[in-house]
Amino acid sequence: MRKAIIAGNWKMNKTPSETGAFVESLKPLVKDAKCDVVVCVPAVCIAEAVKASEGSNIKVGAQNVHFAASGAYTGEVSAAMLKDAGVEYVIVGHSERRQYFGETDETVNLRARAAFEGGLTPIICVGETKEQREKGYTETLLKYQTITALTGFSAEEVAKLVIAYEPVWAIGTGLTASDEQANEGVKIIRDAIRASFGDNAADSVRIQYGGSMNPSNVKGLMAQSEIDGGLIGGASLKAEDFSKVVNYGE
Ligand code: PGA
Repeated sequence: MRKAIIAGNWKMNKTPSETGAFVESLKPLVKDAKCDVVVCVPAVCIAEAVKASEGSNIKVGAQNVHFAASGAYTGEVSAAMLKDAGVEYVIVGHSERRQYFGETDETVNLRARAAFEGGLTPIICVGETKEQREKGYTETLLKYQTITALTGFSAEEVAKLVIAYEPVWAIGTGLTASDEQANEGVKIIRDAIRASFGDNAADSVRIQYGGSMNPSNVKGLMAQSEIDGGLIGGASLKAEDFSKVVNYGE
């Protein structure tokens, strides 16, 4: 059985001082969660999030990582820096990075490798745009993005990863994928992993759904056979809302 994982993606929201207060208010609300709970915060908020979450079941994630160990890469942050700061997870290849910052399937793969080798668990995002879906490319695209992102990983390593199926048209739009569409997307990803890495990797890898997931639709999505959690943007910014998503089973 795969343990569910609900991760908040704050994107470019909240300051370091807001972070401490937020995590403090979240702690009691999610302390009995049955799933893994993660908050992926802006790089400058990591220290506050790690400090405030100490001794709780809340894990801290980052939103990006560079693939080099160190060097002349102004503005970038390495896996070793994140690890040393107390980070456990890192989002890689979010569609906003692909759309606005030139992230490609190849750099997503490099970043995922660097994260994993640096002792972090990458949350690798894949997903089709509205246009790709309308043209009937969803399956081909998801398979390609998934397998390219996993280049150089062994089956044993893939088993430990987290992947997020995030249809681009559902992100920040309020347009959630239906339970069936979300489950189907996750299944395409799992089947692609099964074909390339075998049963153990496919049955162990955790695959989240992301895209306008919130307290009112989380139950239906989490009841689907293939969906192992959620990557939550907008609804992760208020402790009350995020805790309702985390405690979806109640
Ligand atoms: P959303 O964002 O929940 O606001 O749609 C999800 C994401 O971008 O990870």
